[in-house]
Amino acid sequence: MQEKKIKLSFIYGKTSDLSSKEQELINNAKEAFNTAYAPYSGFLVGASVLLENGEMINGSNQENVAYPSGLCAERVALFYSGARYPDIKIKTIAVSVFSENFEIHDVISPCGACRQVMAEYEDKQEQSIKVILHSPTDEVLIAKSVQDLLPFMFKSSLLKKH
Ligand code: THU
Repeated sequence: MQEKKIKLSFIYGKTSDLSSKEQELINNAKEAFNTAYAPYSGFLVGASVLLENGEMINGSNQENVAYPSGLCAERVALFYSGARYPDIKIKTIAVSVFSENFEIHDVISPCGACRQVMAEYEDKQEQSIKVILHSPTDEVLIAKSVQDLLPFMFKSSLLKKH
């Protein structure tokens, strides 16, 4: 048996420390949470994807009375980007949150399924996707690559036939 350690890297800061393009992306994510359909949780999430062509694609969580049928904001934005611009690389995704029902002091942290989807798009495009997680108090937590949020991801290369 052998213990191995891995390094994960994150940057903590304020929204005001970011470039104007990234601040715009966060503003888009904040606008997006206003379009959330979240009558069951009251937890409004917005995501905005910045593509290499400069386009920003927004998404918000869409819930359903059959709970598992709903989808998180991140995947709404990522799947729409993939469907609309399949060949254009994703540079960054920003995620923000708002709720009147819950006290939120920290940044929104994507669920495992959203991390897996982000990780596969990163793998597919062979270029890192930066993830900016935003808090209602305007703090940000940044991962330069999805690998930092999902080490040991399940990769499509594992499905290779003999
Ligand atoms: N949700 C997101 O949209 N993104 C996240 O990163 C975490 C959770 C949504 C799913 C559900 O509509 C609500 O937030 C409460 O879990």
